[in-house]
Amino acid sequence: MKFSRALVVAGFYSLINLVAGQSSTQICDANGICFEGYQDPTLDTFVGIILPPLTTPPSTEYIVQLVAPISYGWTGASMGGQMADSLLFVFWPSGDDVVFSSRWTDGYVQPLLYAGPTVTMLSGSGSNGTHLIATFRCQNCTSWDGGSIDPSGSSQVLAYATSTDTPVDDPTNPASNFTEHNDFNFFGLVTANAISSDYQSILSKLSPPSSAPTSSAPSSSAPSSSPSHTSAPSSPSPSSTSPSHTTSASGAEQTKYGQW
Ligand code: HEM
Repeated sequence: MKFSRALVVAGFYSLINLVAGQSSTQICDANGICFEGYQDPTLDTFVGIILPPLTTPPSTEYIVQLVAPISYGWTGASMGGQMADSLLFVFWPSGDDVVFSSRWTDGYVQPLLYAGPTVTMLSGSGSNGTHLIATFRCQNCTSWDGGSIDPSGSSQVLAYATSTDTPVDDPTNPASNFTEHNDFNFFGLVTANAISSDYQSILSKLSPPSSAPTSSAPSSSAPSSSPSHTSAPSSPSPSSTSPSHTTSASGAEQTKYGQW
């Protein structure tokens, strides 16, 4: 069996953190939607997941919510718990918009756009002036080149990484290059707790109206009232971007991340 350095490093750190109790809990957002995830108190970031009920054949999708301070250059999550050979999600600010892409790499080098996942940005994604939030449905996302997650397993090591101080090269471009993170960490996702019997109704609640614009091209002009953007790239083109922001939405709610 071949062990990559990344896997060994990830295993080492995850062991430390899991021993230290860095495992997921249920955290509910301002809309009362509860994600199984981890909120990093130091980085002020959040990675949360909702899995659909177990079925035969197994579903290949889930819902993800990522939150990070708007001041950060970029933030990402790894569904494989390591950098290499993992499905990576990366997002960053562009004005008041959030720019998102799925990425992949086989080493400690710039992860490039990854065409496998079908990502649909869900409502609530955007900026509230202090934090960026990306909430999205990811289909064809339980396996990727070099790895997978098993929703029926007991736990899954996830990782996150961020550059707190260096903006990406071209913020409006989902394919932008960026420099290495200055922080990363791991947590154990308690898979069973991430499964929601309400998955479909949560999805409906968060899904944009069918008339909302969809596109697979980069865009920074999505109307703020239609927080949606669907992308299913068949080639390594930009995966997703600029859903919307809800800075002044009526009925906005106060959360630990500020007002949404
Ligand atoms: C240009 C972009 C990037 C470069 C040059 C880079 C480089 C590196 C390097 C050199 C390490 C090893 C650090 C150490 O052992 O102390 C590392 C670890 C890590 N990186 Fe990145 N990285 C980049 C982007 C990303 C992204 C986008 C993510 C996630 C979305 C990510 C997630 C991780 C994680 C979780 C680790 C620790 C686990 C492991 O070693 O695989 N990285 N990266």
